[in-house]
Amino acid sequence: MSTKRPIAYFAGIGAGSPARILTNAELEQRVETTDEWIVERTGIRERRIAAVGETLTSYSLVAARQAMEQAGVTAADLDGIVFATVTPDRRLPSAACDLQALLGAKNAWAFDLVAACPGWVYALTVAEGMMATGQGDTILVVGAEKLSSIVDQTDRSTVILFGDGAGAAVLRRASDDRGMLATYLGADGDLASLLYIPAGGSSEPLDETVIREKRHLMQMAGREVFKAAVLAMSRSTDEAIRRAGLTPDDIDLLVPHQANMRIIEATAKYAKIPMSKVFVNVDRYGNTSSASIPLALVQAQEEGRLKPGMIVMLVSFGAGFTWGSVVLRW
Ligand code: ACO
Repeated sequence: MSTKRPIAYFAGIGAGSPARILTNAELEQRVETTDEWIVERTGIRERRIAAVGETLTSYSLVAARQAMEQAGVTAADLDGIVFATVTPDRRLPSAACDLQALLGAKNAWAFDLVAACPGWVYALTVAEGMMATGQGDTILVVGAEKLSSIVDQTDRSTVILFGDGAGAAVLRRASDDRGMLATYLGADGDLASLLYIPAGGSSEPLDETVIREKRHLMQMAGREVFKAAVLAMSRSTDEAIRRAGLTPDDIDLLVPHQANMRIIEATAKYAKIPMSKVFVNVDRYGNTSSASIPLALVQAQEEGRLKPGMIVMLVSFGAGFTWGSVVLRW
């Protein structure tokens, strides 16, 4: 058993998603693909897609309010907001500040964090560090994406994978053995071009040429990403388990980034954690990047798979490349 004293624990979690469901059958009408191909290669059956005009902060607000209600905290109780996203509603100011205003969380500092799919895992680690250095006792940690805004709707290799959604947790200062036991973060910027958006930033601002060539949308070398994801997620589980002073047998529930069923199965196998202990909902939401782990945690809780005292492992991988893991006692 781990002897670590947690700094922060999960007081409440919440989820929010657009209502619109995009099925594989609809994608069959849009690009050259089949339901059979998508399910066999990815395990995805449907994903949520924001309606025209539906903002990232609108469904993030739903997730935040649910997490706050479960935690029993009001907007005035929040000391800070860390918002992980690569798809904010606008460039300036941050999504965190927009959410702070919508919540009326006047006592909270607020900022965005960009770390792609592991963004929420990074944000949990940062929030724990903020707590450790006295920046607050109650921190809202959001992971939310509107990936439909950066995916080429005519590219069959990416449009089938991604969805929109939001998840949130209220972290509070731990007073017993429940909470985050160990974290691990990593990155490799040399591999950026395997999964990236080539233009539209400050080095090559958005113009007619960029839009015509679709270089403001996501480009991905799927096979290379797949291999790197399995390797990094397997190493990340090992490292966080080691840092927590535990063994794979101690893990009661693995909640991995929901990118692809085959990546999840390979990660679990390398991590020596049986699939019976792995939570999967990629079939319903597809890959929602930084929202994927909190969305899965909320569903796991609703289904009774997440119980007090359980040792839970979170692990993720994404563009950058970035990766990270958290071991916690629920
Ligand atoms: N429908 C039908 N055929 C398709 C589709 C599609 N939607 N997409 C690609 N194909 C075709 C390709 O054109 C190719 O055809 P060809 O052999 O005639 O050239 C064939 O299928 C095989 O293509 P691959 O890309 O080699 O297929 P692969 O088995 O690698 O599966 C996939 C592709 C699902 C994208 C896989 O590589 C993958 O999941 N990679 C990880 C991507 C990922 O998860 N990215 C998310 C960001 S990182 C993260 O979150 C972990």
